[in-house]
This record gives sequence, C-alpha cells and structure tokens, in this order.
Amino acid sequence: MQVTHELMNEHQLILKYIELMERYINFSQANEEDNLLFEKAQDFVDFIKVFADSYHHVKEEDMLFKYLQTPGVLSHCNPLPVMLSDHEQGRMFVQNMTEAMSSENKNNFCTNASNYGQLMQQHIMKEDNILYPMAEEGLSDDNKIALDNEYKQIEEQIDKQHIWKKFQEKHLELESCLNSKVTLTE
Ligand SMILES: [Fe+2]
Ligand SMILES: [Fe+2]
Repeated sequence: MQVTHELMNEHQLILKYIELMERYINFSQANEEDNLLFEKAQDFVDFIKVFADSYHHVKEEDMLFKYLQTPGVLSHCNPLPVMLSDHEQGRMFVQNMTEAMSSENKNNFCTNASNYGQLMQQHIMKEDNILYPMAEEGLSDDNKIALDNEYKQIEEQIDKQHIWKKFQEKHLELESCLNSKVTLTE
C-alpha cells in the first residue's frame, strides 16, 4: 500500500502553478505589463492558499507527519523540523505577496513569488526523494491504513474531485491567457 502517491500527484500540480507564475513574472518584467500580473495574482494566491496550503500541507502536517512521529518510524534522521519550517517560510512569502498586491508593489510581489517558487521546488524535491520514500519504508501496514482513512476524510470534506477540476481548469485558462499575450508581442 502506497500513502505518498497522491501527495506526489499534488506536488505535480503545485509545480505546474509555480512554473506558470514564473512565466507570468518574466513576461510582465520583460514587457512592463504590470496589469496582467496583478490581474492574475489573486488566482495564483488562491491556488497556493487553498490547494497547496489548506489541502496538501494539512494532509502532511496533520496526518502524514503525525504518523511519521511514531517512535521507530524515522530511524536514521528526522527531516520533519526542516519540512515544517519550509511550510512556515512559504506562508510568510504568501503573506508578503498578498500585502504587495494590496499596495500594488510589483517588485515586492515578484520577489516574494519567486522566493516562494524556489522554496517549494526544493521542498518538493526533498519530500519526493527523501521523506516520502522514508515514509513508505518506515510506516507499518496498520499505520498506512489508518493514514489513508484520514486522507479520505479531508478529501471528502474539501471535495477532492471538485478542487482538482477547478484548479486544473484555472491553470489552463491562465496558461492560454499568457500564451495569447505572448503571441501578440511576437
Ligand atoms: Fe511539505
Ligand atoms: Fe508536499
């Protein structure tokens, strides 16, 4: 039984949003298109707050990490403090992004959005390659079944199908909007 497979799928969508946000920032900076960036900034912040933080990070912090703290599961080293501090730092960058949107400070928004993107790319690499394999190896079958049941509760509560559909469609919309602007400037 695998308990990190779905979390890795969620990482892929988070990475897609980060890459697209970086493309928006680069385009806005190269073409002095502040309006385009600020028009779409809320969509990126919504995705990060709802999907990455209230859904994915809650599954990690309140569920997976809790089981990983069971004595004997993480026998070699404990990466959890680093993972939790990455999440906290990410929340700080998102808070700064929100403040930069209110004050229409484009530079601050871009700096914090890029910092968030870089932090999460490295964080996801650490989880996919180090933490998750440790979880698959260290958790007992009983723990995995209990953990899977806890995932199911939040997936039902937040309506997993709906949230995936909504943010996949939003990603396509944001991507085609940027692509049409890029075509116009070519
Ligand atoms: Fe994480
Ligand atoms: Fe994660």
